[in-house]
Amino acid sequence: MAPRLPLIFLLIIHRVSSAGWGVSYSHSHICALKNSSVIMSCTYTYPTAHQIVNMFWTKTNVKSDNTELPDLSKDPEYSQRLHYLGDKQQNCTIRLSHVTQKDSHKYYFRFTTDKPDMVWLGRSGVNLTVTDLQVESPERVTEGDSVRLTCKSSCTLTDRAIFIWYRNSQPLTERRDTNNELLLQSVRREDAGRYSCALHGHTYISPDVHLNVMYPPRNVSVSISPSAEIVEGKKVILNCSSDSNPPAEISWFKGGTFVGSGRIYSISKISSDHSGEYKCKSINEHGEKDSDNVTLNVMYPPRNILVSISPSGEIKEGNSVSLNCSSDSNPPAEISWFKGGTSLGSGRIYSISNISSDHSGEYKCKSRNKHGEKYSDTLPLNVMYPPRSVSVSIIQSGLIWEGDSVTLICSSDSNPPALNFIWFKENQSSSVGSGQSFSALQSGRFYCEAHNQHGSQRSDAVTVTVHHGAVKNVLVITAASGGGFIIIIIIIIIILIIMRKRRSIKSEDPTLKPVSDPNEDTYTALELKSMTSDLPFIADLLKTPEDS
Ligand SMILES: *[C@@H]1O[C@H](CO)[C@@H](O)[C@H](O)[C@H]1NC(C)=O
Ligand SMILES: *[C@@H]1O[C@H](CO)[C@@H](O)[C@H](O)[C@H]1NC(C)=O
Ligand SMILES: *[C@@H]1O[C@H](CO)[C@@H](O)[C@H](O)[C@H]1NC(C)=O
Ligand SMILES: *[C@@H]1O[C@H](CO)[C@@H](O)[C@H](O)[C@H]1NC(C)=O
Ligand SMILES: *[C@@H]1O[C@H](CO)[C@@H](O)[C@H](O)[C@H]1NC(C)=O
Ligand SMILES: *[C@@H]1O[C@H](CO)[C@@H](O)[C@H](O)[C@H]1NC(C)=O
Ligand SMILES: *[C@@H]1O[C@H](CO)[C@@H](O)[C@H](O)[C@H]1NC(C)=O
Ligand SMILES: *[C@@H]1O[C@H](CO)[C@@H](O)[C@H](O)[C@H]1NC(C)=O
Ligand SMILES: *[C@@H]1O[C@H](CO)[C@@H](O)[C@H](O)[C@H]1NC(C)=O
Repeated sequence: MAPRLPLIFLLIIHRVSSAGWGVSYSHSHICALKNSSVIMSCTYTYPTAHQIVNMFWTKTNVKSDNTELPDLSKDPEYSQRLHYLGDKQQNCTIRLSHVTQKDSHKYYFRFTTDKPDMVWLGRSGVNLTVTDLQVESPERVTEGDSVRLTCKSSCTLTDRAIFIWYRNSQPLTERRDTNNELLLQSVRREDAGRYSCALHGHTYISPDVHLNVMYPPRNVSVSISPSAEIVEGKKVILNCSSDSNPPAEISWFKGGTFVGSGRIYSISKISSDHSGEYKCKSINEHGEKDSDNVTLNVMYPPRNILVSISPSGEIKEGNSVSLNCSSDSNPPAEISWFKGGTSLGSGRIYSISNISSDHSGEYKCKSRNKHGEKYSDTLPLNVMYPPRSVSVSIIQSGLIWEGDSVTLICSSDSNPPALNFIWFKENQSSSVGSGQSFSALQSGRFYCEAHNQHGSQRSDAVTVTVHHGAVKNVLVITAASGGGFIIIIIIIIIILIIMRKRRSIKSEDPTLKPVSDPNEDTYTALELKSMTSDLPFIADLLKTPEDS
């Protein structure tokens, strides 16, 4: 029995002695945020007879043969970050700063006293878990959705932890959401961005997570380049910009008609046909929107200059007419008028009231804007009027005695030229002849009346007087108008000469009877070259009786 006693004793001793030994940790589990400082609170006890020789924290509780457990403070991974806050009596608290996920581990306190082999390990240890933060959010949300973002940790942080949210690195100060969640009730476009979270009082910030908010096109607008005046022939670019997510498909419409697609609508050589209202339509899977209309206003110099006259048709003196110059241009042109080379004035309409023949001529207009100018074709203006300045002239040939009549010519000024002439003898109601020339066979006062389709006018009367000679009838004509005095003198001379001749013929040859014209009342033609060529006429008169 005796040999067994020491073992029992030892067991009793051990139990007794262990009663004074121990390590107690305040927290068996610690959940710590990355880069934070962790305090592992701990107390230890040992019998008062002992003196502490050595004490340290270690990461393992398994002792391999003949080797001491590794002291954390000697581990280069920890040495800089581990601080012993306790004492050599009972407090074994440490602080580990800037923890990383690699520090997640179980940690134990161990101490030795001055009595041989007295080594103690606090086996229950502290289980440290180091966590980072991860924002959890749906990948794509649509405007209006209710969106919940969660700040996740791999272990449960203390209840008192206050989460902070960042969007695009800016703290969302206005948000006061519960726990680790951020609730966006009705998400807006402006809510899109990079989100991260952190814990109040900690430096660590979670990685960014992008929140992509989809929305239909908005702010659809068209810009035109060049933005200034657009002149025909230039290159013009229409640029449709719109705000949407995802990017929209663009199509172009001119006055409601599809003309192309793509963000840029380019016209390499613009013409006035391109003028109009343009708009672009922006479409994505969430909706569509049209831009406002812009108006493309293409400038060009005048063209198609036309002059019209109203009323159309024949223009009669006294009428009122308007000339209308129409032209196509942008901006509208200034119109000026010309007759021949003379400027008449400006304005699209040129009116002439109570038109007279003086207004006849070639008219044209000039259309001019800042991009150029152009003339119209000429428009002839032909003013019609009834005969006027009607007069009778007497045509005289070189030979006085030739023929048996006097030719009277009726001349007049009219448009169109008078074609119809009627001859009258004064105080005789019916006409005596027609046609522009008239052979007068009797003496008397004659006048003509010239007609065109617009009217008629009479001439003054001319006096035609006939005297009959011995051989031939002698005709004396006195024009009613100027030169009459000279003519009368000449006629008197002629008469005197003829009388003398007649007397002398009678006396020389009594058998020779005076030639008695059967048509005493008719007139022998006498073609007078002109009123001023009287001398040959006199010479002929003097000469002729001798010849016959
Ligand atoms: C141990 O020491 C730390 C740091 O000095 C102190 O905060 C803590 O209260 C102490 N623990 C006990 C039980 O005295
Ligand atoms: C420490 O705690 C974590 C989570 O709480 C657990 O997964 C792990 O097994 C624990 N480690 C040990 C050694 O008990
Ligand atoms: C860790 O914390 C320190 C201050 O305690 C800070 O200067 C450092 O930027 C932090 N590092 C990271 C990665 O957050
Ligand atoms: C887009 O439209 C909104 C209103 O719908 C307006 O407040 C905002 O200023 C517009 N943005 C741009 C860049 O035009
Ligand atoms: C179209 O407009 C956008 C925004 O207004 C601008 O960034 C872009 O350069 C323009 N494109 C062209 C070809 O002008
Ligand atoms: C744009 O122009 C089209 C066709 O010219 C017209 O039907 C529409 O009402 C216009 N829209 C706006 C907003 O002016
Ligand atoms: C002038 O001519 C144009 C084009 O032919 C026409 O539209 C306009 O009514 C005319 N104006 C007048 C006053 O006759
Ligand atoms: C028209 O002009 C003529 C000659 O120029 C003149 O005699 C006449 O009185 C005018 N008529 C009117 C209505 O002005
Ligand atoms: C013709 O008539 C006018 C009046 O109508 C008269 O004065 C004139 O003497 C007359 N002439 C002749 C030759 O009868």
